[in-house]
Amino acid sequence: MTSLKNDTFLRALLKQPTDYTPIWMMRQAGRYLPEYRATRAKAGSFMGLCTSPEFATEVTLQPLERFPLDAAILFSDILTVPDAMGLGLYFAEGEGPKFERPLRDEAAIRALEVPHIEDKLKYVTDAVASIRKALDGRVPLIGFSGSPFTLACYMIEGGGSSDFRHVKAMLYSRPELLHHILDVNARAVIDYLNAQIAAGAQAVQIFDTWGGSLTQPAYREFSLAYMQQIVAGLTRETEGRRVPVIVFTKGGGQWLEDIAAIGADAVGLDWTTDIGQARARVGDKVALQGNFDPNALFGSPAAIESEVARILAAYGHGSGHVFNLGHGISQFADPAHAGALVEAVHRLSRPYHA
Ligand code: CP3
Repeated sequence: MTSLKNDTFLRALLKQPTDYTPIWMMRQAGRYLPEYRATRAKAGSFMGLCTSPEFATEVTLQPLERFPLDAAILFSDILTVPDAMGLGLYFAEGEGPKFERPLRDEAAIRALEVPHIEDKLKYVTDAVASIRKALDGRVPLIGFSGSPFTLACYMIEGGGSSDFRHVKAMLYSRPELLHHILDVNARAVIDYLNAQIAAGAQAVQIFDTWGGSLTQPAYREFSLAYMQQIVAGLTRETEGRRVPVIVFTKGGGQWLEDIAAIGADAVGLDWTTDIGQARARVGDKVALQGNFDPNALFGSPAAIESEVARILAAYGHGSGHVFNLGHGISQFADPAHAGALVEAVHRLSRPYHA
């Protein structure tokens, strides 16, 4: 394998010295880019992009052609795992992801099994290998999966939800059924992420988008415990380097000490937490990733720059910060504003690393 030309992202995740603060953007390959929309039209659908290693490689590299980002992220989706379990993923135009067979009855839940990754999700590991080849060592490649709880939310609700009433009904009345789903999901995610690492992923992120909808004890029991199980089961070294693990719970700012204790290398922050206070709370335990409000990209370039300055100053001097959005970039974001963000982070962060 080619050696990395830019390893700033991996170094920051391990709190090793860097010349500047590295940046990548959640959902950096997506509908805000006209070139993404063009490739998606060629592929016919979003899943057409995900299941073709050629198209997945093309769209993964698109944001890197535009902006000097410090990492690439595999183009795929967290819902490929429940799809491989047989739930029947589909995307209804303008409605987001849905499942044909949501998990509601006990028999279906008891029948749930860890999918055979080499068979059902080979298109993902093939995409990882193809992207690594195309990157040719430019920047590291991030692999990812959903957290067991976030996957369960979509599996049980059958799609997105504003109240998670089926999930919460199960959590409060049949917790053993939810635990069964979470246990299968955790074992599936371990296999899935290890397969991505074996195929060439150089860091991995676990997206816990909905953990923040839980009470504190329920978060620990139904989300964090399973992410801890995953972290313990992951391959932590490949090609002679550590594979950093990033855990991101949207809305998890109140539980940072707990999240920092599960053995991950870095913790992702949404935009509602002060990153300086977060740093004081987690100490030397983990690096931090975040935490620009994605909707601040709707402000002027001058406003974007002052938000960047604010976040960099809040984190302060030294390594251990990977700049990112606190959640995915909007499909309505102006690509020029995303470019202004990347440029401002690179320029304004240098004094903090001197
Ligand atoms: O960051 C990247 O560029 C990598 C690709 C990526 C996608 N989804 C592509 C995608 C990643 C890391 C994800 C993760 C993901 N998917 C999460 C966790 C992160 C988060 O946003 O909270 C979740 C909850 C999903 C499930 C999912 N997939 C939803 C809710 C949607 C619809 C949202 C929307 O913007 O319409 C998707 C579809 C999806 N996944 C798109 C992309 C680029 C848009 C699909 C399209 O092109 O129409």
